[in-house]
Amino acid sequence: MYFIANWKMFGSLNSLKSLDKVIKFFKNFKKNTSSKIIYCPPSTLINPMFKKLKKTPIQVGAQNCHENQNYGAFTGSINTIMIKNAGAKYVIIGHSENRQNGETDKLINTKIKSALKSGLKVIFCIGETLKEKKKNKTNRLLNKQITRGLNKIKSKKNIIIAYEPIWSIGSGLIPKSKELFETIKFIKKKAKNLKVLYGGSVNPKNINELNLINNIDGYMIGGASQDAKKFIDIIKKTYI
Ligand code: 13P
Repeated sequence: MYFIANWKMFGSLNSLKSLDKVIKFFKNFKKNTSSKIIYCPPSTLINPMFKKLKKTPIQVGAQNCHENQNYGAFTGSINTIMIKNAGAKYVIIGHSENRQNGETDKLINTKIKSALKSGLKVIFCIGETLKEKKKNKTNRLLNKQITRGLNKIKSKKNIIIAYEPIWSIGSGLIPKSKELFETIKFIKKKAKNLKVLYGGSVNPKNINELNLINNIDGYMIGGASQDAKKFIDIIKKTYI
């Protein structure tokens, strides 16, 4: 199981202290599971976090990247080589918060190719709006996001998909279990059995309900991941 902490635009050098609890917990816990913990902090914290986690099994990821693999005059951006160089092993691409800012499927596809070329693993995000869901357009939309996002990518072994319905992010709402099971099944069929994670308001209160759905390969956690106790609770409840 994957547990991905997406800190979004939160966190400071001081917040790295909160990782001590997670490191301690995971040290004792890791031996009997195949779980993977990946922290995705803002770019300013990638390298300090990498240094802190270096001797632990916990890995670091970036939250986005520029599509150009080469260096260039792109003020404010970082490319996938820089991300790798800072110590990250993963990069989140296509998060709805960036799609809403104008990221297209085509741009996402270019970013994924750049990340794979640089030797990063990709957490590829897809998900529908409430309007699309209400109009029963979820599968059509996911199909389009998958087809275009993964266009002309031959080897997909370094890609995992995060299904994050936009209406569930930060809202406290999660999809109905049956619905989520069916959507994940649909994604897996389309994406030729890539691992599929669920993200959107995952917290210690709803994790037991989510864990009953047996085709989810892990979780992408926003708000609750900034609180070490809640994050640990989510992991514990997945196994106990
Ligand atoms: P929340 O867990 O805060 O709803 O965020 C989900 C998310 O966007 C993770 O990428």
